[in-house]
Amino acid sequence: MKNFRLDISKIHNFVSKEEVFSFSEEAQKQLSSLHNKTGEGSDFLGWVDLPSQISENEIQSIEKCANELANKVDFVVVIGIGGSYLGAKFFLEAMSSSFEWLENKGKYPRVLFAGQNLVEEYIVELSALLKGKKFGIVVISKSGTTTEPAVAFRILKNQLEEQVGKDQAKELIIAITDAKKGALRKLANIEGYQSFVIPDDAGGRYSVLTPVGLLPIAIAGYSIREFINGAKKMESLTSPEVSFEENPAAIYAATRHALYLKGKKIEILANYHDKLVYLSEWWKQLYGESEGKENKGIFPASVYFTADLHSMGQYIQEGERHIFETVISVTGSDKTMKIPSDIDNLDQLNYIANKRISEVNSKAELGTMLAHVDGGVPNIRIEIDRINEYNLGLLVYFFEKACGISGYLLNINPFNQPGVEAYKTNMFALLEKPGFEKETEEIKKRL
Ligand code: PA5
Repeated sequence: MKNFRLDISKIHNFVSKEEVFSFSEEAQKQLSSLHNKTGEGSDFLGWVDLPSQISENEIQSIEKCANELANKVDFVVVIGIGGSYLGAKFFLEAMSSSFEWLENKGKYPRVLFAGQNLVEEYIVELSALLKGKKFGIVVISKSGTTTEPAVAFRILKNQLEEQVGKDQAKELIIAITDAKKGALRKLANIEGYQSFVIPDDAGGRYSVLTPVGLLPIAIAGYSIREFINGAKKMESLTSPEVSFEENPAAIYAATRHALYLKGKKIEILANYHDKLVYLSEWWKQLYGESEGKENKGIFPASVYFTADLHSMGQYIQEGERHIFETVISVTGSDKTMKIPSDIDNLDQLNYIANKRISEVNSKAELGTMLAHVDGGVPNIRIEIDRINEYNLGLLVYFFEKACGISGYLLNINPFNQPGVEAYKTNMFALLEKPGFEKETEEIKKRL
């Protein structure tokens, strides 16, 4: 396939092709259990056929809502955290101009994010920016009770109501949440906000192809149809009918598993493109929250090259040999620039004069890959030919499918996240939340 390619040939100094392929039967079995919904966490497998199942009606209603909001406001604040944030965030970072802030606003509203932290300065600065501006809010929470987005929503909803009045504010707020449960659902019903439902069977980190990701993407003016089409293509390329050797998600999952069993416990997702930094954040959540259980799992880390070659490059080359690298390589762009030649050549760059900057970047990538492999770091390469909606759809579904297979190969449930409750209990105890009296008493003794 011209726009997507997986290359595992640079792992063979460490793990042979036979070793990877020894997991083929198991990987195919786990793939089938994802589709047949027979594995652990089977209540959360709605994402598996989401790209092919999403209806024209649903797409149209997302597009309609996005257009209506876009016509009324200059800014839209998307409020959410974790899986209710990272999908839209990575997509918009990947697709937007690097200097969007300094450019004149175009046809579509600027999408801003809130509720992904508890940083007072951030919300103060955001609130100041929105003062007197035309803005709308998309508030996203599956549980409808998460503290960070609830705090941001309370503040920004108040601000919006003060700026435009309660009645008009209602027209500018959209809620994306559970169909029935949670405080946000209740609030949306009482206030009469337009709302979208997060399907019960799509967990947060697997929800980018639901309104959670699609509405913010459509609001910013990108084609959700192309995004879905890319995911749909990958759905067909990774279906149980496809053989192991033809299925990139199964091969990636089996390769990671083979490396893990050989002591490669950390996977570094590397990119050579600043627009993909947040793709790594989304990927880290997907793999970290899915696999890190029962004292098992590859630790997902990330680097942004070439910048991080001047920092983390040292460790990757010569530090402890418990890492492997997965590189996302973008081979093309429509924006071109060549390095000029210079008659004096005082900076000694004439040897690369007239080359495109991307050519120099690709040589940095190739040189780094060879050096890291020589240094004992297995290398997996995932190539896309452009950063566009379709290819981001391919990547999203590829990583989701591989993550499901990987989790099952590890024999854990990749679709729950029991570990994220521990910090919340402590935070609620420290904040003396009603219902946490016993925990408050206990925690105070520890301080
Ligand atoms: O993947 C997950 O399930 C989590 O990261 C959630 O998305 C995150 O905790 C936010 O939850 P909610 O959407 O319920 O506010």
